[in-house]
Amino acid sequence: MDWEAFFTLHHDLPREGPGAPEDVDWVLDETGLTGAVSVCDAGCGPGGDLETLADRLPEAYLTGIEMQAGFVATAARRCARFGDRVQVRQGDMAEPGGPHDLIWCAGALYFLGVTEGLKSWRSALAPGGFVAFSEPVKLQDEVPQAAQEFWQEYPAITDLSGIAARVDAAGYDVLGHRLIVGQPWENYYAPLRRRIAELRAANPDPALVEMLDMNAREAALWEAASDHIAYALMLVRPR
Ligand SMILES: C[S@@+](CC[C@H](N)C(=O)[O-])C[C@H]1O[C@@H](n2cnc3c(N)ncnc32)[C@H](O)[C@@H]1O
Repeated sequence: MDWEAFFTLHHDLPREGPGAPEDVDWVLDETGLTGAVSVCDAGCGPGGDLETLADRLPEAYLTGIEMQAGFVATAARRCARFGDRVQVRQGDMAEPGGPHDLIWCAGALYFLGVTEGLKSWRSALAPGGFVAFSEPVKLQDEVPQAAQEFWQEYPAITDLSGIAARVDAAGYDVLGHRLIVGQPWENYYAPLRRRIAELRAANPDPALVEMLDMNAREAALWEAASDHIAYALMLVRPR
């Protein structure tokens, strides 16, 4: 990965994967979490969901953990208005600290593996604590060519029952799920497409052109098969 080209394209984008504030609201409604709870956003990227979580939980203490320094800086800047109760640190989400009442993880648990990651997070959860994570999900067996190409680099993609089996293998129960399809993906791709157009107009070097082409292709594949490309937001809890 050419990280310089990557961050030229991705710096300060609102989010790094599909999602929406309504996803956070759904999880908070389902869990009933409120008050001075502890929440970790694992793989928080530029902090879009961390900001929503901090906004919706005004007494909570939140920690964003992110591997890439560029995203840590964006998330920290974005959440500065919440003061000390929101911390963003550069680190490995495999070690989220805790105990947390909620570990939120949008589009990042697959880096650890669903079963492996959930197992490792068990000791980071407070009694009764929850994990909410979004994960690529196959909606049908037969999908258009664009959807097949879109997921080519994630061969581990499975359907809802396959995700539930990975959750079960970690010793967790599924409390509920919600599909992330359509607009939450546009929330990611619309700003990305605008940035690609701006950078193309500014005489980009070959490494950046390659990065722009790769990301533009991904956005075009999503557009071509947007009804067939989904994440599942899973709400789970250790048994
Ligand atoms: C698809 S992005 C999603 C970012 C963010 N959750 C969002 O929805 O905007 C996945 C993020 O996970 C981060 N990541 C991957 N592995 C990680 C690890 N082991 N520890 C911390 N962050 C990690 C990546 O750097 C990236 O920012």
